Amino acid sequence: MGKDHFWQKGYLEVIMIVTSESTPSPNATGSNPNWQSIFPDADHRWVMGVRRGDAPAFFSPRDPTGRVRAEREHWLTENPERYAALTPTAEPALADTVALAQQMGVTLAPTLTPWEQLMALGRTWEADFVWMHPDETGAHRLTGGVVCFPSSWALRDKLGRTMSETHRPVPGLNAALDRQIETFFAKMIPGVAWTRENANYSRVPDLNQHPLRPRPPLDATVTGEEFLIRLEHQLLLKFPASGSILFAIRVEVFPLSEVLNCAEGSARLARLLDTMSVAAAEYKGIAQAREVIVPLLRSLPLAKSEPQPHSESDTAPDPARDVGLSSP
Ligand code: HEM
Repeated sequence: MGKDHFWQKGYLEVIMIVTSESTPSPNATGSNPNWQSIFPDADHRWVMGVRRGDAPAFFSPRDPTGRVRAEREHWLTENPERYAALTPTAEPALADTVALAQQMGVTLAPTLTPWEQLMALGRTWEADFVWMHPDETGAHRLTGGVVCFPSSWALRDKLGRTMSETHRPVPGLNAALDRQIETFFAKMIPGVAWTRENANYSRVPDLNQHPLRPRPPLDATVTGEEFLIRLEHQLLLKFPASGSILFAIRVEVFPLSEVLNCAEGSARLARLLDTMSVAAAEYKGIAQAREVIVPLLRSLPLAKSEPQPHSESDTAPDPARDVGLSSP
């Protein structure tokens, strides 16, 4: 590769030190989400929700069965053009990402072409990943990556798009967050990782929810047993060498019963679903299902109880705001 990367100069230690102060991931083991920190105690709105992250922990393998990687291998073999993309602008970010992966113990043959490197990373990591790179106006555009487990969007549709264009299908998101997202990206300190969560809902546990794969609707016939929560853990990391931003996504699927076991989590999810605008609920595919799910979440004696006093982490200031990375 012949290029010095920031983690080769000891910056990985800096990442570790910075992130050791961060809020622990609510689901670092992949088995026990803290629903109270995932669902805010508030009416629904689109939020930044970023806090300090830990890139090595994010990318470390979590699936001892190997099923996740086997499925990625399957989709990348069956239709590589659908699930992977690489523009010339992305090649420096690919080199940065390969160096990051190697630093974390991934072995890649030095003879691989850039496309082969991309495919190898896509098969090796359990997480999806894309890169955003600023254009001549400073707007960040999607330049490539591997997305095998999308939540109802297609990598190819977003390639070359700005954040604003990427988020356009989400009703009201750009009005609420577009400026904050671009400001956040511009101010990100290279080598410092950030994380956020996003919850989606589904009737099937399939990790790959590409728009071309048909799925049963979450309509009013859905039962509590069928209603699944698709939790996305997202990581953002700016590379000092290329200046691109790595955006990685891990998906986990949980039955609603996991939330029903948490009284406060149930109350918060009920409030979130109930207060979503019709447009937002339609976008998320739960406009009808919420008529069934909200009463279910509220039917539990515990879920009806008074909300507990906020935990320290609920009320702690947004770390992004601490370092001037939230809205200006
Ligand atoms: C700090 C950065 C970001 C924030 C705060 C953010 C926020 C959001 C939010 C709130 C949603 C709606 C999710 C929902 O509840 O369904 C969303 C959707 C989405 N975001 Fe982001 N996002 C960020 C970065 C990115 C990046 C870097 C990408 C790059 C691919 C991306 C791609 C998407 C896509 C594809 C969707 C779904 C849009 C669709 O349905 O077509 N986001 N984002």
